[in-house]
Amino acid sequence: MVQAIFLCLLLLSISLQSSSAQAKNCSSESFSGNRRYSSCNSLPYLGASLHWTYHASDGTVDVAYRAPQSSSGWVAWAINPSGAGMIGANAFLAFPDSATGAVTVWTTQLSTYSPTVQNQNLSFSVYTKAAEYSNGLYTIYATLEVPSNNTKVNVVWQASTQFENGVPNGHSTLGDNVNSQSSLDLLSGHAAPAADNSKQHRKNVRNLL
Ligand SMILES: *[C@@H]1O[C@H](CO)[C@@H](O)[C@H](O)[C@H]1NC(C)=O
Ligand SMILES: *[C@@H]1O[C@H](CO)[C@@H](O)[C@H](O)[C@H]1NC(C)=O
Ligand SMILES: *[C@@H]1O[C@H](CO)[C@@H](O)[C@H](O)[C@H]1NC(C)=O
Repeated sequence: MVQAIFLCLLLLSISLQSSSAQAKNCSSESFSGNRRYSSCNSLPYLGASLHWTYHASDGTVDVAYRAPQSSSGWVAWAINPSGAGMIGANAFLAFPDSATGAVTVWTTQLSTYSPTVQNQNLSFSVYTKAAEYSNGLYTIYATLEVPSNNTKVNVVWQASTQFENGVPNGHSTLGDNVNSQSSLDLLSGHAAPAADNSKQHRKNVRNLL
Protein backbone atom coordinates (compact mmCIF):
# COMPACT_ATOMS: atom_id res chain seq x y z
CA MET A 1 0.00 0.00 0.00
CA VAL A 2 2.69 2.47 1.08
CA GLN A 3 4.78 1.34 -1.89
CA ALA A 4 1.87 1.88 -4.29
CA ILE A 5 1.38 5.42 -2.99
CA PHE A 6 5.10 6.07 -3.28
CA LEU A 7 5.10 4.81 -6.86
CA CYS A 8 2.14 7.05 -7.70
CA LEU A 9 3.90 10.07 -6.24
CA LEU A 10 7.07 9.20 -8.12
CA LEU A 11 5.22 8.89 -11.44
CA LEU A 12 3.33 12.10 -10.73
CA SER A 13 6.51 14.01 -10.02
CA ILE A 14 8.18 12.65 -13.17
CA SER A 15 5.21 13.67 -15.32
CA LEU A 16 5.07 17.12 -13.69
CA GLN A 17 8.77 17.60 -14.35
CA SER A 18 8.53 16.62 -17.97
CA SER A 19 5.45 18.79 -18.60
CA SER A 20 7.08 21.81 -16.98
CA ALA A 21 10.27 21.18 -18.98
CA GLN A 22 8.15 21.17 -22.15
CA ALA A 23 6.33 24.32 -21.14
CA LYS A 24 9.64 26.03 -20.44
CA ASN A 25 11.30 25.46 -23.79
CA CYS A 26 10.12 28.49 -25.70
CA SER A 27 12.26 27.65 -28.76
CA SER A 28 9.94 24.83 -29.76
CA GLU A 29 6.82 27.02 -29.92
CA SER A 30 5.41 27.94 -33.31
CA PHE A 31 2.94 30.57 -34.47
CA SER A 32 0.15 31.03 -36.96
CA GLY A 33 0.54 33.02 -40.15
CA ASN A 34 4.19 31.97 -40.57
CA ARG A 35 5.17 34.40 -37.84
CA ARG A 36 8.73 33.83 -36.63
CA TYR A 37 10.80 35.59 -34.01
CA SER A 38 14.54 35.81 -33.49
CA SER A 39 14.50 35.50 -29.66
CA CYS A 40 12.39 34.04 -26.91
CA ASN A 41 12.26 33.72 -23.14
CA SER A 42 10.19 31.41 -21.01
CA LEU A 43 8.78 33.75 -18.38
CA PRO A 44 9.17 32.60 -14.77
CA TYR A 45 5.47 32.84 -13.80
CA LEU A 46 2.02 31.92 -15.10
CA GLY A 47 3.48 29.47 -17.65
CA ALA A 48 3.99 32.28 -20.14
CA SER A 49 6.57 32.84 -22.84
CA LEU A 50 7.64 35.85 -24.83
CA HIS A 51 9.01 35.84 -28.37
CA TRP A 52 10.34 38.88 -30.14
CA THR A 53 12.30 40.34 -33.03
CA TYR A 54 13.90 43.70 -32.35
CA HIS A 55 14.49 46.07 -35.27
CA ALA A 56 17.25 48.51 -34.29
CA SER A 57 16.93 50.38 -37.60
CA ASP A 58 13.50 51.80 -36.78
CA GLY A 59 13.28 51.20 -33.02
CA THR A 60 10.37 48.75 -33.22
CA VAL A 61 9.81 45.22 -31.96
CA ASP A 62 7.54 42.37 -33.10
CA VAL A 63 6.25 40.47 -30.08
CA ALA A 64 4.32 37.28 -29.43
CA TYR A 65 3.16 36.65 -25.86
CA ARG A 66 1.77 33.17 -25.16
CA ALA A 67 0.16 31.94 -21.96
CA PRO A 68 -2.21 29.20 -20.81
CA GLN A 69 -5.74 30.15 -19.76
CA SER A 70 -9.28 28.83 -20.02
CA SER A 71 -11.03 30.12 -23.13
CA SER A 72 -13.44 32.11 -20.96
CA GLY A 73 -10.61 33.91 -19.14
CA TRP A 74 -8.15 36.63 -20.11
CA VAL A 75 -4.41 37.16 -20.31
CA ALA A 76 -2.43 40.38 -20.46
CA TRP A 77 1.11 41.42 -21.31
CA ALA A 78 2.44 44.92 -20.75
CA ILE A 79 5.45 47.19 -20.98
CA ASN A 80 5.89 49.68 -18.19
CA PRO A 81 7.85 52.60 -19.70
CA SER A 82 7.81 54.72 -16.53
CA GLY A 83 8.40 52.21 -13.74
CA ALA A 84 7.82 48.58 -12.83
CA GLY A 85 4.75 46.54 -12.03
CA MET A 86 1.15 47.43 -12.75
CA ILE A 87 1.00 51.19 -12.22
CA GLY A 88 2.14 52.84 -15.44
CA ALA A 89 1.90 49.59 -17.41
CA ASN A 90 0.80 49.85 -21.04
CA ALA A 91 -1.06 46.58 -21.54
CA PHE A 92 -2.35 44.29 -24.26
CA LEU A 93 -5.31 42.18 -23.09
CA ALA A 94 -6.71 39.16 -24.92
CA PHE A 95 -10.19 37.90 -24.03
CA PRO A 96 -13.41 36.67 -25.64
CA ASP A 97 -15.64 39.49 -26.89
CA SER A 98 -18.76 39.36 -24.72
CA ALA A 99 -21.08 39.73 -27.72
CA THR A 100 -19.46 37.51 -30.35
CA GLY A 101 -17.18 35.22 -28.32
CA ALA A 102 -14.37 35.95 -30.79
CA VAL A 103 -10.94 36.54 -29.30
CA THR A 104 -10.25 40.24 -29.14
CA VAL A 105 -7.25 42.31 -28.07
CA TRP A 106 -7.47 45.65 -26.28
CA THR A 107 -4.74 48.07 -25.34
CA THR A 108 -4.97 50.05 -22.12
CA GLN A 109 -2.87 52.21 -19.81
CA LEU A 110 -3.08 51.19 -16.17
CA SER A 111 -2.86 54.01 -13.65
CA THR A 112 -4.53 52.46 -10.59
CA TYR A 113 -4.68 49.03 -8.94
CA SER A 114 -8.41 48.74 -9.68
CA PRO A 115 -8.82 50.21 -13.16
CA THR A 116 -11.91 50.17 -15.32
CA VAL A 117 -10.25 48.76 -18.41
CA GLN A 118 -10.87 50.74 -21.60
CA ASN A 119 -9.59 50.11 -25.10
CA GLN A 120 -7.33 53.11 -25.64
CA ASN A 121 -4.06 54.23 -27.21
CA LEU A 122 -0.82 53.45 -25.42
CA SER A 123 1.93 55.93 -24.60
CA PHE A 124 3.96 54.45 -27.48
CA SER A 125 2.88 53.61 -31.03
CA VAL A 126 1.29 50.24 -31.71
CA TYR A 127 1.51 49.32 -35.42
CA THR A 128 -0.31 45.98 -35.33
CA LYS A 129 -2.12 43.94 -32.69
CA ALA A 130 -3.93 40.61 -32.84
CA ALA A 131 -4.76 37.69 -30.57
CA GLU A 132 -5.83 34.09 -30.91
CA TYR A 133 -6.78 31.14 -28.72
CA SER A 134 -5.75 27.58 -29.46
CA ASN A 135 -5.04 24.40 -27.45
CA GLY A 136 -5.59 26.10 -24.10
CA LEU A 137 -3.24 28.97 -24.92
CA TYR A 138 -3.79 32.61 -25.73
CA THR A 139 -1.28 34.32 -28.00
CA ILE A 140 -1.05 38.10 -28.32
CA TYR A 141 0.80 39.43 -31.38
CA ALA A 142 1.93 43.04 -31.67
CA THR A 143 4.38 45.30 -33.45
CA LEU A 144 5.19 48.36 -31.43
CA GLU A 145 7.56 51.26 -30.96
CA VAL A 146 10.18 50.57 -28.29
CA PRO A 147 9.51 53.35 -25.76
CA SER A 148 12.34 55.93 -25.83
CA ASN A 149 14.40 53.38 -27.80
CA ASN A 150 15.35 51.82 -24.48
CA THR A 151 16.18 48.19 -25.21
CA LYS A 152 15.85 47.30 -21.51
CA VAL A 153 12.11 47.23 -20.90
CA ASN A 154 10.17 46.44 -17.76
CA VAL A 155 7.44 43.95 -18.55
CA VAL A 156 4.51 42.69 -16.51
CA TRP A 157 1.95 40.02 -17.32
CA GLN A 158 -1.26 38.64 -15.89
CA ALA A 159 -4.03 36.04 -16.18
CA SER A 160 -7.49 35.89 -14.68
CA THR A 161 -11.06 34.73 -15.23
CA GLN A 162 -12.66 37.82 -13.67
CA PHE A 163 -14.77 40.17 -15.80
CA GLU A 164 -17.11 43.09 -15.22
CA ASN A 165 -19.59 43.95 -17.99
CA GLY A 166 -17.65 41.73 -20.37
CA VAL A 167 -14.34 43.52 -19.74
CA PRO A 168 -11.34 42.08 -17.84
CA ASN A 169 -11.58 43.23 -14.25
CA GLY A 170 -9.40 42.08 -11.36
CA HIS A 171 -7.12 39.14 -10.76
CA SER A 172 -5.67 37.09 -7.93
CA THR A 173 -3.25 39.06 -5.77
CA LEU A 174 -1.33 36.00 -4.60
CA GLY A 175 1.82 34.19 -5.73
CA ASP A 176 2.46 34.12 -9.48
CA ASN A 177 -0.12 36.86 -10.07
CA VAL A 178 1.93 39.41 -8.13
CA ASN A 179 5.38 38.07 -9.03
CA SER A 180 4.75 38.23 -12.75
CA GLN A 181 7.03 41.09 -13.76
CA SER A 182 10.59 41.28 -15.01
CA SER A 183 13.11 43.32 -16.89
CA LEU A 184 13.64 42.27 -20.48
CA ASP A 185 16.75 42.99 -22.52
CA LEU A 186 15.58 43.08 -26.13
CA LEU A 187 19.16 42.39 -27.23
CA SER A 188 19.26 39.09 -25.29
CA GLY A 189 17.08 36.01 -25.11
CA HIS A 190 17.41 32.49 -26.34
CA ALA A 191 17.97 32.22 -30.02
CA ALA A 192 15.05 30.72 -31.86
CA PRO A 193 15.17 28.82 -35.13
CA ALA A 194 16.56 31.11 -37.82
CA ALA A 195 13.87 33.36 -39.17
CA ASP A 196 13.35 36.51 -41.09
CA ASN A 197 9.97 38.16 -41.15
CA SER A 198 11.48 41.61 -41.50
CA LYS A 199 9.92 42.04 -44.94
CA GLN A 200 6.44 41.55 -43.50
CA HIS A 201 7.45 43.76 -40.58
CA ARG A 202 8.49 46.64 -42.85
CA LYS A 203 5.20 46.30 -44.72
CA ASN A 204 3.21 46.40 -41.47
CA VAL A 205 5.03 49.47 -40.22
CA ARG A 206 4.73 51.23 -43.58
CA ASN A 207 1.00 50.58 -43.69
CA LEU A 208 0.48 52.25 -40.38
CA LEU A 209 2.82 55.21 -40.55
C1 LIG B 1 14.27 23.33 -27.07
O1 LIG B 1 13.69 23.14 -28.35
C2 LIG B 1 14.62 23.32 -29.41
C3 LIG B 1 13.85 23.29 -30.73
O2 LIG B 1 12.85 22.33 -30.75
C4 LIG B 1 15.67 22.22 -29.31
O3 LIG B 1 16.59 22.34 -30.36
C5 LIG B 1 16.37 22.36 -27.98
O4 LIG B 1 17.28 21.31 -27.80
C6 LIG B 1 15.38 22.35 -26.81
N1 LIG B 1 16.09 22.69 -25.60
C7 LIG B 1 15.90 22.03 -24.45
C8 LIG B 1 16.68 22.53 -23.27
O5 LIG B 1 15.12 21.08 -24.35
C1 LIG C 1 14.41 54.96 -32.32
O1 LIG C 1 15.50 54.97 -33.21
C2 LIG C 1 15.17 54.77 -34.58
C3 LIG C 1 16.45 54.67 -35.39
O2 LIG C 1 17.27 55.79 -35.17
C4 LIG C 1 14.24 55.87 -35.06
O3 LIG C 1 13.85 55.64 -36.39
C5 LIG C 1 13.00 55.90 -34.14
O4 LIG C 1 12.16 56.98 -34.49
C6 LIG C 1 13.40 56.02 -32.69
N1 LIG C 1 12.21 55.84 -31.85
C7 LIG C 1 11.92 56.66 -30.83
C8 LIG C 1 10.71 56.32 -30.03
O5 LIG C 1 12.57 57.64 -30.53
C1 LIG D 1 -5.04 56.92 -31.16
O1 LIG D 1 -3.97 56.79 -32.09
C2 LIG D 1 -4.34 56.94 -33.44
C3 LIG D 1 -3.15 56.61 -34.30
O2 LIG D 1 -2.02 57.32 -33.90
C4 LIG D 1 -4.88 58.36 -33.66
O3 LIG D 1 -5.28 58.52 -35.00
C5 LIG D 1 -6.05 58.60 -32.72
O4 LIG D 1 -6.49 59.93 -32.82
C6 LIG D 1 -5.68 58.30 -31.28
N1 LIG D 1 -6.86 58.35 -30.43
C7 LIG D 1 -6.92 59.08 -29.32
C8 LIG D 1 -8.19 59.00 -28.57
O5 LIG D 1 -5.97 59.74 -28.92
